[in-house]
Amino acid sequence: MLCKIIKLNINGSTHETAIREYDVLLDVVRENLNLTGTKRGCDMGTCGCCNVLIDGRARLSCLTMAMECIGKKIVTIEGLKSPIVHPLQRAFAESGGSQCGFCTQGFIMTAKALLDENPDPKREEIEEAISGNMCRCTGYIKIVDAIENVAKLQKNGKGSN
Ligand code: FES
Ligand code: FES
Repeated sequence: MLCKIIKLNINGSTHETAIREYDVLLDVVRENLNLTGTKRGCDMGTCGCCNVLIDGRARLSCLTMAMECIGKKIVTIEGLKSPIVHPLQRAFAESGGSQCGFCTQGFIMTAKALLDENPDPKREEIEEAISGNMCRCTGYIKIVDAIENVAKLQKNGKGSN
């Protein structure tokens, strides 16, 4: 199998890794780089479990070719927790927005992109933003609550990220 060595900027560091031309970003972060916080759910673009940030926008890593990511800034859930737990992670835990947790990182990356672009979203805007993410456990209301709580904290200068 022909491989190519590429460099990817992930979570602020350059990672050199060997990929096949058809590898998707999800495979590279999980299998080459052991960043297993990014989850494989449907593998076909319908669940949002595999979301990462690419140049600040939430993207489905299961549908993104790794080759397309050269020269872009990629952030995975592991990139949010340093040096402390991110306010969104704390809010999901405290509000009950995470139960089994399989979907949680995808929602958090979606929420991070939303709040970076729109720090004071209306509830409907949060619902719209997460419409591509699926959760089988929570019923979504507590997820929206968690994102709304972080927006309020940020507004009061307490939830900086
Ligand atoms: S695994 Fe990518 S959208 Fe479901
Ligand atoms: S918390 Fe279980 S799928 Fe969302």
